[in-house]
Amino acid sequence: MRSSTSVAPAVAAVLAGCALWSAASADVAPAGGQVDQAPQVERKVAELLARMTLEQKIGQMVQPDIRSVTPDDVRKYRLGSVLNGGGAWPGENKHASVADWVALADSFFDASMDTTNGQLAIPIIWGTDAMHGHSNVIGATLFPHNIGLGAAHNPDLLERIGTVTAHEVAVTGLDWAFAPVVAVVRDDRWGRTYESYSEDPEIVRTYADRMVRGLQGARGSKEFLDASHVLATAKHFIGDGGTTDGVDRGDTHLSEADLLKIHGPGYVAAIDAGVQTIMASYNSWNGLKVHGHQHLLTEVLKKRMGFDGIVVSDWDGVDEVQGCSKDKCAPAINAGIDMVMVPNDWKNFIGNTIEQVRTEKIPLARVNDAVSRILRVKFRAGLFERGRPSSRPLANKTALLGAPEHRELARQAVRESLVLLKNERGLLPLRRNSRVLVVGDGADNISKQTGGWTVTWQGTENTNADFPGATSIYQGIARAVEEGGGKASASAGGPKPEVAVVVFGEDPYAEWFGDLRSIDYRGAGGAELALLQQLRQDSVPSVCVFLTGRPLWIEPELAACDAFVVAWLPGTEGGGIADVLFRKADGSVNHNFTGKLSFSWPRTVAQTSLNRNDRKYDPLFPYGFGLRY
Ligand code: BGC
Ligand code: BGC
Repeated sequence: MRSSTSVAPAVAAVLAGCALWSAASADVAPAGGQVDQAPQVERKVAELLARMTLEQKIGQMVQPDIRSVTPDDVRKYRLGSVLNGGGAWPGENKHASVADWVALADSFFDASMDTTNGQLAIPIIWGTDAMHGHSNVIGATLFPHNIGLGAAHNPDLLERIGTVTAHEVAVTGLDWAFAPVVAVVRDDRWGRTYESYSEDPEIVRTYADRMVRGLQGARGSKEFLDASHVLATAKHFIGDGGTTDGVDRGDTHLSEADLLKIHGPGYVAAIDAGVQTIMASYNSWNGLKVHGHQHLLTEVLKKRMGFDGIVVSDWDGVDEVQGCSKDKCAPAINAGIDMVMVPNDWKNFIGNTIEQVRTEKIPLARVNDAVSRILRVKFRAGLFERGRPSSRPLANKTALLGAPEHRELARQAVRESLVLLKNERGLLPLRRNSRVLVVGDGADNISKQTGGWTVTWQGTENTNADFPGATSIYQGIARAVEEGGGKASASAGGPKPEVAVVVFGEDPYAEWFGDLRSIDYRGAGGAELALLQQLRQDSVPSVCVFLTGRPLWIEPELAACDAFVVAWLPGTEGGGIADVLFRKADGSVNHNFTGKLSFSWPRTVAQTSLNRNDRKYDPLFPYGFGLRY
């Protein structure tokens, strides 16, 4: 845990002489009990709530997307929160600068604190999908997606990633990261498999704890929710990874005991670590949508698990509930949703909800509970005293976004996430002084390396130019071999290479765009297969680097490669791959493989739902598999 300090030098330098640093969260004082209900916070919540009108209360409960809301709207409707969905940037400008982000955060904040006409000042909170680093922002450090971190089996690393992510979010003046995903994925056809650490709750439980600690600061410490940390979200509650056939937003059919045993541990751990928000899931449980599920949201999550923070709905998630629309959903609020992510139709939603409270379709007591939770989190986070986003210690510290120390941590994460499935005749590790051909459509393709939820929602429409400071896999290899007197080339021609590194795999996707019917990787006719066969004919040994969001059936490719490395979706620091593939200049091993599968690898295309502890378990590579040198 103390390792979180090892990324701190950059931050410490920035903060030198900054008095706000330790004073920011003076009255958070977590009690360290079941729930951190400091009496002084509860008193403030009650006092403020008592002064609020119904309109102000409903405004607090609503979270529009920044593409559909202005600071004037925040002032007028007293909105409690905004988000930027995947691919939403200030001014709809993909290349928005740090200053642009902070300026917009200031405008929203100022509007929320405006007390003209006797309005109450309640600081707004801005949430963002910082799922693998601050992933909507150009120039941020992007870490391997969760599936790769699962293979790393390193909880300390997770906490440090959480800390760095929090710092980079704080640089832009935002308050809240919609992370970690604590899904336990049971059918790899699901398009969000890569957002999951593992098919098994074991790793998810430990990682949820450490990632929440990294993002929010350790509960009970002075750092907890201070100005260099952000609010975290455990999501998506509950059973998102358990849907039949891996269908996004589908139905998870399980007994309550199994639902909680498989899909629950991440939440218990996150709540223990003090997570302040939990996002409801689009899926159903035994036919009923979770967004309208009173038993799950209120009885299980709030009462049994003791969660006293904010339950936020997912993007238009209320629309999934029977009898609801995007702009009207009493059943979701009655079931236990406290803050409603209603990206576009928020004005009508506010009008409809006020009406539903007046006509007693929603009890006022429920609204009071929801608003109390929102205020509690805002007081705990010290936001009433923190001042404008631009005045906070890390705001506008542009040098921290993609800082060398942060990138070094991401590069370590890449090294540790790699899983070696095959290494014929000890082909790996390679000598640096070799002639290396680096090919495949993933070789010099940072978009493919970073996957979905990267700058844009789907992670598509990005080129290498959208990743200043990042390193492609090819660039990493070129640097490594040149240091050792070798030569890397990206195309055939010239002297025959001694070895080829072939980088290929899935193209970026997010959510249901990635749902599959079959786990057969593009069938046997893929372009890379022809390339691999050609290399073999030419007696050039091949190292395959597979970029993927999940285990897929890759039998033909596996057979055609001499060595096979699963690199998952490694993020911006492609140099981590050369670190492991190549020896030191003196010939000794530079970094060994340490990654082990956190998902079972299928032997046949029929094994779509293949999980550790299955009664009949016959994988090609079992959970925990990974070769070493
Ligand atoms: C948003 C995403 C969101 C998605 C859900 C997109 O338009 O940008 O953030 O997750 O819609 O449908
Ligand atoms: C996703 C969430 C995400 C939200 C906001 C939804 O579609 O399911 O994970 O936080 O969009 O972008």
